[in-house]
Amino acid sequence: MKGLILSGGKGTRLRPITFTSAKQLIPIANKPVLFYGIEALRDAGIKDIGIVVGDTKEEVRRAVGDGSDWNVSITYIEQAEPAGLAHAVLVSQGYLKDEPFVMYLGDNLILGGIKELVKEFKEVSPNCHILLSRVQNPNQFGVAELQNGRVVRLVEKPRDPRSDLALVGVYMFDSHIFEAVKNIKPSWRNELEITDAIQYLIDKGYVVHPHMVKGWWKDTGRLDDLLEANKMVLDTLDTRIDGLVDDESKVDFKVVIEKDAEVTKSTIRGPAIIGKGSKIINSFIGPFTSIADRVTIKESEVEHSIVLEGSSIMNIKGRIGDSLIGRDVEVSKSPLKPKAYRFMLGDYSKVGVL
Ligand code: TTP
Repeated sequence: MKGLILSGGKGTRLRPITFTSAKQLIPIANKPVLFYGIEALRDAGIKDIGIVVGDTKEEVRRAVGDGSDWNVSITYIEQAEPAGLAHAVLVSQGYLKDEPFVMYLGDNLILGGIKELVKEFKEVSPNCHILLSRVQNPNQFGVAELQNGRVVRLVEKPRDPRSDLALVGVYMFDSHIFEAVKNIKPSWRNELEITDAIQYLIDKGYVVHPHMVKGWWKDTGRLDDLLEANKMVLDTLDTRIDGLVDDESKVDFKVVIEKDAEVTKSTIRGPAIIGKGSKIINSFIGPFTSIADRVTIKESEVEHSIVLEGSSIMNIKGRIGDSLIGRDVEVSKSPLKPKAYRFMLGDYSKVGVL
């Protein structure tokens, strides 16, 4: 069995971060979300993994390499345009050949992995295995309708949902999926939809097996979901202090402080992680916060946020919360007169001021 991780796409919902970087490389508890997917496949015994890449292919390649860090073999598959999940399957046929495979959306996170699911797929041996989870807002997902435990209909982001069963971003297929992806037409948003491909399988009488996911999972394609995923993963960490914490600082609850990080006259209230070489001075890092490597935070307070490499936050009066701050960003108090907010923001940036 092979693995296929989808790591192309447009990432419009995470702009401006996705103008310069792949959303699958945004770190959750300081580890790219894509790495959790690779680990989930490896832990399920899958050694051959294809990664579908688009515009951000070089960055993904640099981060993942040949897979030897995970003891798996990675093959990159280029998708010329982000033309849909079913299109990603279509362009991967040469790699997948006739083998059954797990398709894993590179921005999804499933706590507890997929080992049992892969085992069930091998035992039941359907043509397709889909994972379902009850959600509050089904109109934002692909949704499945069941009758007597069988999947009868799939609809992508229905305006008027007839079910609250959302498709989780992990699917298992045998080679009949290629017949399906070749026979469907692009949707109103001009994408080849995986829901249409699976509907094709249902209509042709192939076996589509539903599996209810009981544990926690998240599609991290939006800021709120990303922060929630960060919160969930941070909560699973054990305390580890490899950096320096001075006597005037307080470290509370589950906190990871990486090598060469320095915490001075500050409070770190976990769950939180402070990356390598970061400096926290006279500051408060609140719960559910991931500070990446080489970040400086001085005279400021940050909670329920993710701050990426090389950024600095200095002398900010109000507490920063619910935020995603990109790489090498500077947030500081402006000493210049007139007293004013001074911004240089990329397109689609979002700022909330007090
Ligand atoms: P989505 O999050 O559904 O789509 P997107 O990445 O284009 O984001 P947005 O809706 O915010 O514009 O994609 C799910 C995963 O599949 C994600 O990891 C990107 C990947 N993907 C591809 O690899 N190829 C594609 O053609 C599409 C649409 C997505």
